[in-house]
Amino acid sequence: MSDTIHVLNGPNLNLLGTREPGIYGAATLADVEALCRDTAARHGLEVVFRQTNHEGALVDLIQAAAGAAGIVLNAGAYTHTSVALRDAIAGVGVPTVEVHLSNVFAREPFRHHSYLSPVVRGVICGFGPQSYALGIAALATARQARA
Ligand code: DQA
Repeated sequence: MSDTIHVLNGPNLNLLGTREPGIYGAATLADVEALCRDTAARHGLEVVFRQTNHEGALVDLIQAAAGAAGIVLNAGAYTHTSVALRDAIAGVGVPTVEVHLSNVFAREPFRHHSYLSPVVRGVICGFGPQSYALGIAALATARQARA
């Protein structure tokens, strides 16, 4: 059984730390990566951590995670627009947790709908970088249950 979790980040998440800090906080994407690696290590898991601004590249990254223990996915704005990402998650068959730094349900109505939520194991939003850590912990627990 794979011991690797793929943490995949979509558009504009490379700007964390300077992007709308009142919404997304001061942590950079490098800080989020360090948190993910620490959290995964405590569960005996490895992390592949990636970011892209391009929808098709995100499809490629989801497909490249085939066989992994899980995917933690913050698809950014593509969450609310992308059938292609939804089909990639459904097609690859890897347990996936959709995460968001902000509480999307407390924001504009167009952020309330996710094309991804129906095909993921669960959704965690609103806890800043901890949303990622909680997602990794959830996947680690699910993986143990399968072992
Ligand atoms: C986000 C929420 C999305 O609505 C937004 O487009 C993002 C970031 C979050 O992490 O809170 O880019 O996914």
